[in-house]
Amino acid sequence: MNLILLAGPGSGKGTQAELLQMQFGMVHLSTGELFRENIKRKTELGKLAKTFIEKGQLVPDSTTIDMVRERLMQVDTERGVVFDGFPRTINQARALDEILQSRGTMIDAVIYLTVREDEIIKRLSGRLVCKDCQLPFHNEHNPFESCPYERCQGEYLYQRDDDKPETVKARLRVYQNQTAPLIAHYTARDMLIKIDGEGSVTEVSNLIQQALRKLIESQDIA
Ligand code: AP5
Ligand code: MG
Repeated sequence: MNLILLAGPGSGKGTQAELLQMQFGMVHLSTGELFRENIKRKTELGKLAKTFIEKGQLVPDSTTIDMVRERLMQVDTERGVVFDGFPRTINQARALDEILQSRGTMIDAVIYLTVREDEIIKRLSGRLVCKDCQLPFHNEHNPFESCPYERCQGEYLYQRDDDKPETVKARLRVYQNQTAPLIAHYTARDMLIKIDGEGSVTEVSNLIQQALRKLIESQDIA
């Protein structure tokens, strides 16, 4: 099964994608994460991506699509992928269809998480991310208790540079202008599953699991 998690910044894509990876064994492919890894390793791609990410803008489509194409060549993605933060433009959506088609597969559903902007701002202002495994936590709603991978005691938690209030505002504008049109794009293709993303992490996860079970039963997806 291949799924897209479509939602604004800070809506819980990364949190839910990690849970889907654990529950369904899919590969969690986050373009934001791939960029941050490149920035950490100071690659050419990382240097380029940084100039856009620090302003809250999208990295150009051609660079992003090439990076995803390369990641999808790795064999683990054959067990299914949950796309987190990709596609973010209509161009990227079309490119993803082509890449998957060339591999004889397709997107099975697009999970659209709805979260209001004031809630997004609360979530991002309290977010702490683990530098080691990249799992997102929240100082109030989702505090670090123990590492699910038993690798640390929470000593690697940090605040992302692009979670500064001005950058969050820019990311929200970019989402409305460039990514929100994907809602209509996937609705027209009858692929969109709308999920209320404002409940607790467990509540949202349960809603997603229910929707996926229905989809699997109706379409006989493995
Ligand atoms: P990316 O890393 O994808 O950032 P984003 O889309 O802005 O989303 P976030 O990672 O900030 O939030 P999330 O939805 O994953 O929420 P999370 O689970 O962490 O992209 C970063 C940048 O890279 C972009 O701005 C762009 O420059 C570039 N980029 C990436 N992809 C690109 C693309 N395709 N094309 C071009 N450029 C691209 O949760 C947020 C917080 O809320 C956490 O603290 C969490 O613990 C908490 N939380 C989660 N769920 C709940 C809940 N249900 N209740 C309460 N709190 C919750
Ligand atoms: Mg994320």
